[in-house]
Amino acid sequence: MDKFVIEGPTPLQGTIPISGSKNAALPLMAAALLGNSPTTIHNVPKLRDIYTFNNVLRVTGARVDFDEESGTLTIDPANISFLEAPYELVRKMRASFYMLGALLGKYGEAKVSLPGGCAWGPRPVDLHIEGMKTMGANIELEQGYVIANTEKVLDGGIYELDPSSVGATINLLLASVLRASEFTIKNAAKEPDVVLLCKALSNMGAEIDGIGTDTLTVRRVDTLTGIEIDNAPDRIETGTFMIAGAMHPKSELTLTGADPSELGAFPETLRKTGAEVEINGSTIRVKAPDTLKPVSIKTRTYPGFPTDLQAQWSTMMTQAEGDSKVTDTIYYDRFSYVPELVRLGADMNVEKNTVHISGKTPLKSASVMSTDLRASVSLVLAAMVAEGSTDVLRIYHLDRGYEDLEEKLSRVGGNIKRLDQDA
Ligand code: UD1
Repeated sequence: MDKFVIEGPTPLQGTIPISGSKNAALPLMAAALLGNSPTTIHNVPKLRDIYTFNNVLRVTGARVDFDEESGTLTIDPANISFLEAPYELVRKMRASFYMLGALLGKYGEAKVSLPGGCAWGPRPVDLHIEGMKTMGANIELEQGYVIANTEKVLDGGIYELDPSSVGATINLLLASVLRASEFTIKNAAKEPDVVLLCKALSNMGAEIDGIGTDTLTVRRVDTLTGIEIDNAPDRIETGTFMIAGAMHPKSELTLTGADPSELGAFPETLRKTGAEVEINGSTIRVKAPDTLKPVSIKTRTYPGFPTDLQAQWSTMMTQAEGDSKVTDTIYYDRFSYVPELVRLGADMNVEKNTVHISGKTPLKSASVMSTDLRASVSLVLAAMVAEGSTDVLRIYHLDRGYEDLEEKLSRVGGNIKRLDQDA
């Protein structure tokens, strides 16, 4: 198992290219199964979750070619014969559950393992299943598996998501475009990843009304055709590096290849800390203020503050002059990073779904443990402003979602090394 050894504090100065989005790529990869010819996706990041999903696809018989050099992924569904997603793979990554919608939609049957537990609280899939039942699919749970089948043509109906869910919206789209005469998803997620999937499915030949709104209506078509499509830049990686650029008073980062239009209210929120944020096309420049101002936030669905940037924001707030609160309204239990930051010297405590932070506290090196993807990157951000040498253990979480993190940070002045944690 690897760890990072990070020597701080270091200001970050220079340019970081933004990678393709993991969360946008995964639904596109699932959608590729619905076509009757191969689909090619460009700008796919080299990340563990992508490799895992490649293997999930291969298990079915799909041919998957990933040209890592160019980030081009080609998926040919022609020889799919095994309509299952086994536990060994699904437990590694929840998004494998998209196989339920994709296989059911294309082949009328699927057997997909329920995703296992998760490091941050319960993350159920009840809405995915109830929505598919509303559509008219037969679904049973057996020994940890969802076993589903459907008629060739289903009536469809109306299903309202409560709460709104990115994953359920994606799964219901995948299940319905080839099956449901008319199916409406209310309170659908409007996250950019959902919009990109809708556009991809439309390009393949699907009929979807209301793209980009919270009411999506699907009318079935007989076949979909494979397409060539560009994956989106990663908006969470973008937000993470924007925060990195604001945390040390001498930092100034330029991010290239980003899509600022997908950041919702985030740039404006970051400006409230005193940071300079300049947007020019696909380039974002962030210059840290001399003194960071405390800014409280609440996570919301898009275009509100993303839950996937909550931990990074709290980490930055430990360096702001004054008190702030960070509330997660999407996931109530996503604060496992807090005790680790406290080990580094942060003054923060969790009450229900809010973390109260008192700044500014100088951070000092310690050994800390990654607990999930976004928590891990927050520990890296903290370590880069902490005095001394910090070990961030169990960084396999980071490898799921941040491409070339240590190279990108080293190039802009971070002092970060990957070592074998057990050596
Ligand atoms: C996706 C993202 C994840 C992000 C999250 C919220 C991917 C691979 N993951 O996760 O990084 O943090 O959106 O933006 O894209 N819920 C239910 N029942 C369900 C499904 C969801 O109650 O069947 C609840 C969840 O517990 C949560 C809320 O709905 O409180 C939103 O979750 P959801 O949008 O589904 O998250 P994911 O799609 O799993």
